[in-house]
Amino acid sequence: MGNNKIIGYTAGAFDLFHIGHLNLLKRSKEKCDYLIVGVTTDDLIEKTKNKKPVIPYEERIQIISALKCVDKVVIQDDLDKVKAWEKYNYNILFSGDDWKTSERWQGYVKELKKHNVSVEFLPYTKTTSSTILQETIKNFNGNYGGIK
Ligand code: CTP
Repeated sequence: MGNNKIIGYTAGAFDLFHIGHLNLLKRSKEKCDYLIVGVTTDDLIEKTKNKKPVIPYEERIQIISALKCVDKVVIQDDLDKVKAWEKYNYNILFSGDDWKTSERWQGYVKELKKHNVSVEFLPYTKTTSSTILQETIKNFNGNYGGIK
């Protein structure tokens, strides 16, 4: 990596890859030169979201790796973004703004500031989520787009 390149970092489960994920990754890449994306392991998703991902880790990581807005994909087996900074030395941490008011994320803002690292909350895409997609599939029942 060149010395003055801005390294960005973001992480997530990225299960059932959807437009909200793509918006977040594209907007993150617009604000840095080199985007590192942490993909959450199946075990950590089970622990933190209390549900199993539909798409296994090995496949989620391949999907994220194939995106042109992503420069490097790494494993996220620990939620701690300060530990991730120690590993990857990023300059900006990105997240959807659904996390903005959470205590955990406010803690990251405070701690990372000491290292001159900023945290940017990008607009969450309200129309979709992995949970919404899971529910839609569950309720599908042979109906397409509400037409019976
Ligand atoms: N994200 C977003 N807009 C969405 C969904 C997610 O901007 N509609 C962002 C999140 O804020 C996070 C990243 O994408 O920074 C990864 O989120 P993830 O938890 O993998 O996706 P969700 O679809 O929110 O998953 P779930 O419904 O299981 O919570």
